[in-house]
Amino acid sequence: MEQYLKDEVASRRTFAIISHPDAGKTTITEQLLLFGGAIRQAGTVKGKKTGKFATSDWMEIEKQRGISVTSSVMQFEYKEKKINILDTPGHEDFSEDTYRTLMAVDSAVMVIDSGKGIEPQTKKLFQVCRMRGIPIFTFINKLDRDGKEPLELLEELEEVLEIDSYPMNWPIGMGRGLLGLYDNYNKRIEIHRPEVNGKDNERVVELNAAGEIEGDHPIKKSSLYTQALEDIELLNEAGNAFSEEKIANGELTPVFFGSALTNFGVQTFLDTFLEFAPSPTAHKDTAGEEVDPYTNEFSGFVFKIQANMNPAHRDRIAFIRICSGEFDRGMDVTLARTKKKIKLSNSTQFMAESRETVQRAVAGDIIGLYDTGNFQIGDTIFEGKLNVEFEKLPQFTPELFMKVSAKNVMKQKSFHKGVQQLVQEGAIQLYKTYHTEDYILGAVGQLQFEVFQYRMLHEYNSEVIMTPIGSKIARWIKPEDLDVNMSSSRNLLVRDRYDHPLFLFENQFAMRWFADKYPNVELSSLL
Ligand code: G4P
Repeated sequence: MEQYLKDEVASRRTFAIISHPDAGKTTITEQLLLFGGAIRQAGTVKGKKTGKFATSDWMEIEKQRGISVTSSVMQFEYKEKKINILDTPGHEDFSEDTYRTLMAVDSAVMVIDSGKGIEPQTKKLFQVCRMRGIPIFTFINKLDRDGKEPLELLEELEEVLEIDSYPMNWPIGMGRGLLGLYDNYNKRIEIHRPEVNGKDNERVVELNAAGEIEGDHPIKKSSLYTQALEDIELLNEAGNAFSEEKIANGELTPVFFGSALTNFGVQTFLDTFLEFAPSPTAHKDTAGEEVDPYTNEFSGFVFKIQANMNPAHRDRIAFIRICSGEFDRGMDVTLARTKKKIKLSNSTQFMAESRETVQRAVAGDIIGLYDTGNFQIGDTIFEGKLNVEFEKLPQFTPELFMKVSAKNVMKQKSFHKGVQQLVQEGAIQLYKTYHTEDYILGAVGQLQFEVFQYRMLHEYNSEVIMTPIGSKIARWIKPEDLDVNMSSSRNLLVRDRYDHPLFLFENQFAMRWFADKYPNVELSSLL
């Protein structure tokens, strides 16, 4: 690869922000975009909620269905880095796509509400990041409000998420009493309200070698400052040591405190994050070999397909994570699954406020390809003789299930076609019961069912009847362990679309009962 391209790849930082709804992900994303000059005004990303969003057809669809496409990928430049933020919807649009998006990033930022600590959705998304072993950076938000004690929050990280943490900075007070941040990493203090706490409107005070402010300073009179120093001392003695290697392996999360809403601590977070966040990392192929992002030839995989962006054209966009080389508009690639050659002429790149035609992109970037039905989730495309196929994306265990059938029995054909295509596309999971061959749909979020129903009707002219069967715990078993007599009233034995057997358990109790009864049968939550 030529040097200028190597530099381009090395400048990429591709990450996702994960959080539970309302922790402040949108607010922090906006701040980051503002620093990068990608938007001019706060409230732009949030337009979805306030109805400020513009006009085009597909935006209308987004609004109707609550799917946000505009903000699914945001690219901007900041201090010579090209940053790609991938959105992981936490709200009503939570779906398998949310998990799969995490397969396309090199690191993740976890936003936590200081008042609430670790919430369920954060935990789920964290676990996917953990499985991938990517670096995870923590931003504890809403410091301008009274929240949990900082030490308690670190303890929660270690106990609930089982990850070691290292505080990069430490709050001096919080809520109305927030005086500043003790920046342990940069050895300085960021003053929260210079007009009240500082001298001459200073915002930053450097620390001396002992880690204290030299000489006289109003903030030194506060017991909160003394308290922060004591906490830091305790953490330096008894806490985890800073380790770049552990951060890179996802074993240690650097923790930053701040307030996204008042833009306090966010820029320091971004600057420090960019120091440690990895540039594009190698992705593994099906044989477990790593494909170097600096390889000359282009390669990438599809991690998300967004259908029906424009109802008039029924178009779809396949989101591709570029894993190596350079994308050139109009290039020829091979689709690994079919070995078919495809010309990539119709492509788009995502910006904060718009989509524009992309001419060139490199490893680490995300591009959108208009798709006429060529692509499936997980597909690899490559240039020339590279002949690579990236490892399969994991199947995530659905938590919600519905029985589904065609309303009109005369229209079985379009029903089956629709189900088959939507399942192939990865929009929803399909299972069949062993005895009766009933169709059961599985999803991780309610929206997936709604989209399924909507698309069956509008794209395949098939009205469906969906009967909820409630939440279940799905666990795969090895085909050789299968004995149909293991099925009981508390579990449902089904097979997935690859014919792998799995049990849908009523609840934890039913699953434990099963595990006790069949101790040699391994139950797996990922395939
Ligand atoms: P999300 O994307 O993670 O769901 O969260 P979002 O940024 O939408 O923030 C959720 C709410 O929390 C918003 O308030 C937002 O203003 C508030 N918020 C975000 N960061 C901070 C912070 O640092 N401090 C404080 N005090 N609040 C914060 P809202 O009332 O739901 O919305 P809005 O009326 O402000 O738009």
